[in-house]
Amino acid sequence: MDLELTGKTALITGASRGIGRAIAASLASENCNLLLCARGAEALEATAHELRVAHGVRVETAAADITQPDVPARLVESARQHFGSLHILVGNAGGNSRGRFEDTTDEAWAEIMDLNVYSHLRTARAAIPVLKASGGGSMIFVASIFGREAGGAGLSIYNTTKSALISAAKIMAVELGGDKIRVNTVAPGSIRFPGGSWDKRVQADPEAMKQFVAANIPMGRFGRADEVADVVSFLASARASWVSGACLTIDGVQSHSLI
Ligand SMILES: NC(=O)c1ccc[n+]([C@@H]2O[C@H](COP(=O)([O-])OP(=O)(O)OC[C@H]3O[C@@H](n4cnc5c(N)ncnc54)[C@H](OP(=O)(O)O)[C@@H]3O)[C@@H](O)[C@H]2O)c1
Repeated sequence: MDLELTGKTALITGASRGIGRAIAASLASENCNLLLCARGAEALEATAHELRVAHGVRVETAAADITQPDVPARLVESARQHFGSLHILVGNAGGNSRGRFEDTTDEAWAEIMDLNVYSHLRTARAAIPVLKASGGGSMIFVASIFGREAGGAGLSIYNTTKSALISAAKIMAVELGGDKIRVNTVAPGSIRFPGGSWDKRVQADPEAMKQFVAANIPMGRFGRADEVADVVSFLASARASWVSGACLTIDGVQSHSLI
């Protein structure tokens, strides 16, 4: 299947490790040129270097905190200056703040709203004119199964922000359909990669995590970052030309939602 991504340009936030890095690798393997963003410059440049060597594509970096209100527009402008166009935006940066709702603070809510919601809204707003000028494109935001259904105690902030992201993307898809801009979200389940949050939990308590997997993931293992990344590349591609406003679960049947 030809994804027709050769020569396309993509901006990926949160791209130095984990799922974002896997998305960058997947798009690079499809011959996309990339602008990668994360805060830590060293890990970001190491990722970029590896992808240039492995795939022979152009990979630019921007070490910046996506929650700073001026950063999203600067990123999009940087992509435009480097490549002259932008076809794909992947809003992947995200995080969690666990705690019982009654103990949460305005500061904790604001921090994760900035990272999981506002950063993506600002990047999308900045990207839309450039995507239009490039003849259309695809925006994909990385949400979570816990944006589609209740994640349980301690996840009020995470759950709320991921649901908000899915909702906003759906409305963007409605408004941008006529501009040949597709907007989708993906909802990963528990994804394990070296150094990631699930990997740390497995290292800390392997037996408890074995039981967690047995009880919660019918396919019997954690997901891999590349399994999320390949779905994102599909959504970015011409093969998903009739897919917009969707939220695809990538979870080995971990979630329970029927829709
Ligand atoms: N892993 C899972 O099981 C799972 C499941 C469902 C959904 N997700 C979602 O998938 C996305 C990626 O998750 P992950 O597990 O791969 O995360 P991760 O390992 O924590 O990596 C996050 C990436 O985002 C960057 N980042 C974090 N804060 C940033 C900021 N303020 N500005 C710019 N870059 C920032 C990080 O680099 P720096 O720290 O250097 O900035 C890193 O490259 C998140 O939205 C997460 O909610 C993950």
